[in-house]
Amino acid sequence: MPNIRVAVLYGGRSGEHEISVRSAKSIIAALDRTKYDVVEYFISKEGKWEGGRMIVPEPGGNPGIDVIFPVLHGTFGEDGTMQGLFELADIAYVGPGVLASSLAMDKEVFKRVMRASGLPVVESVTLYRESIAGAKIDLPFPLFVKPANLGSSVGISKVKNDAELRVALQEAAKYDHKIVVERGITGREFECSVMGNAAPLAATPCEVLPSREFYDYEDKYLLDKAVIELPAKISAEETAEIQRLAVLAYQACECEGMSRVDFLQEAATGRLYINEINTIPGFTSISMFPKMWAHAGVAYSDLLDRIITYALERQARKKATRYTKE
Ligand SMILES: Nc1ncnc2c1ncn2[C@@H]1O[C@H](COP(=O)(O)OP(=O)(O)O)[C@@H](O)[C@H]1O
Ligand SMILES: [Mg+2]
Repeated sequence: MPNIRVAVLYGGRSGEHEISVRSAKSIIAALDRTKYDVVEYFISKEGKWEGGRMIVPEPGGNPGIDVIFPVLHGTFGEDGTMQGLFELADIAYVGPGVLASSLAMDKEVFKRVMRASGLPVVESVTLYRESIAGAKIDLPFPLFVKPANLGSSVGISKVKNDAELRVALQEAAKYDHKIVVERGITGREFECSVMGNAAPLAATPCEVLPSREFYDYEDKYLLDKAVIELPAKISAEETAEIQRLAVLAYQACECEGMSRVDFLQEAATGRLYINEINTIPGFTSISMFPKMWAHAGVAYSDLLDRIITYALERQARKKATRYTKE
């Protein structure tokens, strides 16, 4: 059998550009060269496809590629925009499709979908840039203020009073037209990796113990002080409940391939809340998505084999779909 030709896309027009480069390096190093031929596509922070290589938005326009692995975190990569290009090109690609990618990126639409599916999310209020001036928030402090579409905790603040709230709203409004204000949860934070198409599987959950007030940008990428417990130190029942909710959230968003589902647990009540879904989670050798799988018995290179297989299966399934009347 000839090798599968994998196009690894990385970099990109995103605040998570540097993390993407690190994730891609790990993936490129781990792809088994007896099974895969690897072609790299680097996209600059300005969005330029470097080295003259580009995906062409035309069926049959990319004869050298069997499957695309978008290792792009955040905007213009994880949010459905790239996935739209892959759909136009009619090529298999790793990870969720256009709909799941864009709805998981929008924290406000995501919550609406979770609520409509009866899944637990923290109470929140939605504001728009024009309406923040006199906005009344009918939720108790502390509050979390977030731009609706971003990641890496950029533009997110925890606030304890009205004066801080006003500053935080202005800050979040720099990054998005739409802002989500949430009740702050005092308690613990968990993450759970999920993969698969029709029958998704959940890995061993981990706990994140931020070293700061919350898991902010510095804590995620600069300080190296946040502690990760894998497996999370919780009961077997709680582990099963996190896994169950992770799979339900994944399915409610129509995720395919892979995603990491993140949780908050309120100390006072023990209640679990689904915080967000990351459709292209960090993939460095020390990232939690592959580590949770390793703990569950799926080694890094096996994980790559599986998610590439899910991509090829989905593409094969699409072949049965007609787009015009017979
Ligand atoms: N409602 C909340 N209550 C308590 N902590 C929160 C809440 N929302 C977010 N956080 C904290 O802020 C971090 C970043 O928020 P998150 O919604 O995950 O945004 P991002 O997409 O930038 O990762 C979380 O990992 C958590 O530490
Ligand atoms: Mg997060």
